[in-house]
Amino acid sequence: MTYVVTDNCINCKHTDCVSVCPVDCFYEGPNFLAIHPDECIDCDACVEACPIDAIYNEDDLPEEKKHFLDINEQLASIWPQITDQKEPMADAEKWNNVEGKLEHLIKSAADEKC
Ligand code: SF4
Ligand code: F3S
Repeated sequence: MTYVVTDNCINCKHTDCVSVCPVDCFYEGPNFLAIHPDECIDCDACVEACPIDAIYNEDDLPEEKKHFLDINEQLASIWPQITDQKEPMADAEKWNNVEGKLEHLIKSAADEKC
């Protein structure tokens, strides 16, 4: 099992989750974080830490967010690890709970979209 970062993290990236993860299994892209499924130990700490409820236990993923399981696995394998909390993105408040955020996900510095 694993925990999964979902769409509401896009363009917010509060990173409180990073500060509580005991195994440092978060990986950082330009506007999203991903959890490496092979490294997560299912401790549950990050769910409450995220101020905008972007993280789910894999078993609790709503149907419309299940594709984020593959997205986390794919991106966690190409992005660098993040181990320290940092400032949220500048427009984090504005982007909270915006619909259709997946189209804004940036996979690389070259602005390649998912
Ligand atoms: Fe890290 Fe625990 Fe969240 Fe897994 S459930 S990503 S180990 S804080
Ligand atoms: Fe994203 Fe929430 Fe972590 S917004 S960076 S999943 S604290």
